[in-house]
Amino acid sequence: MSVPQRVLTNDDIAQLVDTSDEWIRTRTGIERRHVAKEETTARMAIAAARQALQVADADPREIDLIIVGTATPDHSMPSTACQVQSALGATRAGAFDLNAGCSGFVYALIMGHQAIASGEHNLVLVIGADTLTRVVDWEDRTTCILFGDGAGAVLLRASEGPAGVLSTLLGADGSGGDLLMIPAGGSALPASAETVAQRLHYLRMNGREVFRFSTRVMPRAVEQVVQRAGLTLEDISLIIPHQANLRIIATAAKRLHLPMERFYVNLQEYGNTSAASVPIALCEAVEAGRIHPGENLVLVGFGAGLTWAAAVVRWGVSPEEAISPRYRIWWRWLLYHWAALRERVQRFLRRLTVWLIRRAERRR
Ligand code: COA
Repeated sequence: MSVPQRVLTNDDIAQLVDTSDEWIRTRTGIERRHVAKEETTARMAIAAARQALQVADADPREIDLIIVGTATPDHSMPSTACQVQSALGATRAGAFDLNAGCSGFVYALIMGHQAIASGEHNLVLVIGADTLTRVVDWEDRTTCILFGDGAGAVLLRASEGPAGVLSTLLGADGSGGDLLMIPAGGSALPASAETVAQRLHYLRMNGREVFRFSTRVMPRAVEQVVQRAGLTLEDISLIIPHQANLRIIATAAKRLHLPMERFYVNLQEYGNTSAASVPIALCEAVEAGRIHPGENLVLVGFGAGLTWAAAVVRWGVSPEEAISPRYRIWWRWLLYHWAALRERVQRFLRRLTVWLIRRAERRR
């Protein structure tokens, strides 16, 4: 995982808009969030991916596919996944972004799992990364308090072992698209002085309706995906939900008749990091010793679209097993520097070729 250095507390936000630490804590559970300064979605995605490669002790040149779940790519074109591909030197990999709002990581995980299950791919890098603080309206107290930035990554590898993705569930209801959207900046309403003046390039949300949708869909998705795995809730040791609001998670826990201890919660530290929230929570849960090999987890996301997605995962890796030898760490470091050099040289050569062709044409 990777999060920005800069931390913004609730008290800091109370300096910007009419709110208070007490209001934000009681209505959301959020205490602080990490906010990008120099960081971008791609930079955090690359940092998280490099850590995942280190934990798995994998060679970036073996990656077959890179999927980045994000709603805030660095650019509309090229995709963030292609930026990650180049920075890692993942020369054999295909790469694409997937926009399913805050469900982006779980959607991407399911696509990655299916790419492996199809037999076409062996090693798939799945990332959730977002920089929502760049698109929230810092004058709108109903939204700016909620979001933070970050990225998380996992590597999926084909295996015959008993661990892996046991069942999946994808859902969408586009009729609720207007409940959480950025009206301008896309092809329907391209950015113009007018859209900027009307603040249409900022995220807009109907908080109450999104709250109702989330509390309805999240427990139902958990129940359905567990059933699809042929398990019961008793077989699930930890649920890692999208970290939007503590009250959403508490309501889901109540509806599922589960204690809050069965849910991993870290939104107090990061706020809602959109597609990054589930992999960041997964990463912290592993590091905190909350997940052990052989245990069943549910990962569940919901968000803009509207979308939702869930997967039951049987954990198969213990972090102690997966420590890279030092020389492999250096080897990957060299590969990343080589990849950066390769990118610069190739760009230079392309420009040089264009210049030479133009010069030859002028002389003709
Ligand atoms: N500080 C202080 N007061 C605030 C406030 C803030 N940051 N934001 C809203 N308020 C006020 C409202 O203006 C309203 O005042 P009024 O009663 O005088 O009109 C009052 O608080 C209650 O507003 P309401 O919108 O009903 O609050 P809420 O309890 O629904 O909480 C959210 C608002 C946004 C925290 C909540 O709706 C929510 O979490 N929704 C889901 C959002 C989400 O998770 N989105 C991402 C999904 S992926």
